[in-house]
Amino acid sequence: MMHKSMLHAVGNTPLVKVNFKTPASIYAKLEYFNPSGSMKDRSALYMIETAEKEGLLRPGGTIIDASSGNHGIAVAMIGQLKGYKVIITVSEKISQEKLQTIQAYGAQVIMCPSTAFIEDPKSYHSQAVALQKKTPNSFMPNQYFNVVNAQGHYNSLGPELWKQTNGKITHFFAGAGTGGTVSGTGKYLKEKNPTIKIIAIDAANSLYSTKGNPKPYKVEGIGIDFDSEVLNHNIIDEIIPVSDGNALPMLKILSVNHGMLAGPSSGAVAYAVEQYTKNLKPTDCAVMIFGDSGRAYLTKNYY
Ligand SMILES: Cc1ncc(COP(=O)(O)O)c(C=O)c1O
Repeated sequence: MMHKSMLHAVGNTPLVKVNFKTPASIYAKLEYFNPSGSMKDRSALYMIETAEKEGLLRPGGTIIDASSGNHGIAVAMIGQLKGYKVIITVSEKISQEKLQTIQAYGAQVIMCPSTAFIEDPKSYHSQAVALQKKTPNSFMPNQYFNVVNAQGHYNSLGPELWKQTNGKITHFFAGAGTGGTVSGTGKYLKEKNPTIKIIAIDAANSLYSTKGNPKPYKVEGIGIDFDSEVLNHNIIDEIIPVSDGNALPMLKILSVNHGMLAGPSSGAVAYAVEQYTKNLKPTDCAVMIFGDSGRAYLTKNYY
C-alpha cells in the first residue's frame, strides 16, 4: 500500500498470534509498527487534527505537552511534519533513547523531576500547563485530561481490531497510563459486542493499585497515578496490577521465544494475559496491546 505521508501511514499494524500455553487464541497487536513507534501516533494525530478543526491550533503555533515518552515522540513527529513548534516536558524516568528520539524529530525537551503526585508544581504535567499558559498561540493536547485522547483510539484502534478479528474478539487487554487506549478501544468494542471483556493493566506500585500510597516503579508508560475522565471505569471490567518483578522478565521470553522485541509495558500486559487466559475457553479470542518496541530500552538491559 502506498501512503501520501507519514501521517497517512498511522495504524493498520499487524495482529500476530502468540503461542502461550492456554486453551484460548491469543493475539498481540504490534503497535510498535506505527510510524513513530507506538500506539500514541493514533491518539496524538487525532488530538492535533481535532484542535486544528476547532481552531485551537493555528498556523505558526506551538504544541506543548507532558509525556512519559511515546506521546511526546508522536507529537514531535506529527507536529514538526505539520509545521508547528513542539515542546515536550518529560520526567527524569524517561529512557535516553526516548529523549533523543523526541529531539531527533526536532522538538525541544524540558526535563522535570519524577514526582509521586501529578499536582506537584514541579511535575512534568504541571510544568507543561504553566508553559502553555505563558506561550502565545500554543496548544496543549493534554493527553492525561483530554477525553479526545480516548476518542482517537475509539476511531482508530477499536474499528481496526474489530475488523482484524472478524468480530471474534472476546477479551481486550491494554496497559493503562492515561487510560486512553483501553477506554477508547474498549468503548468501541463494547458497542459492537457488550459481552467483550475489557481489562486494563496497571503498575502495581501506582497511586490506584496501592490505594493512595504510590512507590517508584520501572515499567514506563503504564501506571494510574491520578483521577481523570480519560480512564473510563464504566468501560473497564477489571484492572490488573503487575509488578516490575513480573513484567520485566517477560521481555526476554517475548523476544527469544516469540520474536517480539517489545517494551516494558508489553511485558506487564503479556504477564497479566498469560495468567488470566489460563481459565479461558478454546473459543475465546484475546487481544493484547504491545504499545512500543524494546529498541527504546536496550540500554536498560532488560533483554
Ligand atoms: C508503551 C506504552 N504502553 C502503554 C501506555 C499506556 O497507554 P494509555 O496512555 O493510552 O493508557 C503508554 C502511554 O504512554 C505507553 O507509552
